[in-house]
Amino acid sequence: AQVQDMSSSKVKAAKNMAFVFDIDGVLVHGDRLIPEGRRVLEILNGDNELGIKIPHIFLTNGSGKLEAPRCKQLSEILHSPISTDQFIQSHTPMRALAEYYKTVLIVGGEGYKCREVAQEYGFENIVVPNDIVAWDPTIAPYRVFSDEDRATSNPRDFSKINIDAIMVFSDSRDYATDMQIIMDLLLSENGRLHTVAKDPVSQRIPIYFSQGDMLCPTEHPIPRMSQGTFRIGLEAMYKALTGVELERVVYGKPELATYKYADEVIASWNEQIHNEGILPAKANTYMVGDNPASDIIGANEYGWNSCLVRTGVFQGGDNDENNPASFGVFKNVLAAVQTAMRKEL
Ligand code: G3P
Ligand code: MG
Repeated sequence: AQVQDMSSSKVKAAKNMAFVFDIDGVLVHGDRLIPEGRRVLEILNGDNELGIKIPHIFLTNGSGKLEAPRCKQLSEILHSPISTDQFIQSHTPMRALAEYYKTVLIVGGEGYKCREVAQEYGFENIVVPNDIVAWDPTIAPYRVFSDEDRATSNPRDFSKINIDAIMVFSDSRDYATDMQIIMDLLLSENGRLHTVAKDPVSQRIPIYFSQGDMLCPTEHPIPRMSQGTFRIGLEAMYKALTGVELERVVYGKPELATYKYADEVIASWNEQIHNEGILPAKANTYMVGDNPASDIIGANEYGWNSCLVRTGVFQGGDNDENNPASFGVFKNVLAAVQTAMRKEL
């Protein structure tokens, strides 16, 4: 009976804990598997002493693709099923904005993938910068517009359409064009191109960014600029042109709203795997990340345990100096998960 009691209390503890995984630098590098990531998912999907699933979700600042194909791709790389119901990309919570804005400018990403993302999120009238350049090429004087760009764009008469909001979903592929068009809209009368507002503030449409990372590690030896630097460039230009600060909203890690959204996803995922919508206490929730300035600071501020791994951005000593991981630094994701499980179970 004692053995049974012990195992039932362990089952309870296992259902009352949760892991939140960063993806890039923790489970994969781009499209390349980090081998310990595969083992971790096997363990959490039931290959553990209790034979039960241990709640876990994925929280990435990645962007630019629909959730379903990205989950399919990650499932193949990691050899474990990853459901869209346990998966949050930087722009996933921006789905809720479809209720408030009808006509939106969607910026960033490869080709027209972000147009597809916005369509799937339920935005009604989606405009991408190429639609605008196809309508009026003089808007972007340095842009070379290819036949393919023309064939895949959807020009309309934007002097008769108000754009309700600007949403940067992913990294800009053409700073000059995207910044020019964004600035034109911020300075326009209520998002109408070819107009200039008398008062830049009261007639300004809102602007949202899906995440704030300054730098992103790539194949290049020195990290490349990301959405955060693009935003800072825009803010500085706007301030220089108008004299006022640009108000904006940033999603993604380490923003508080993202962590609250993650908690909702953990509770509903628990409902799916254990028929109980338990939201584990923050003290039993473990964020595993590689970026102190994003994963770790966000988790620390939210009150989760934070585990910093050495397989990604962090290259420092014992712990990060500015944003130390509260649960410790680990050589990889497997070491972090095993240590957390030993503590909780
Ligand atoms: O910076 C963008 C992206 O590559 C970061 O992904 O999974 O580390 O949040 P992740
Ligand atoms: Mg990462």
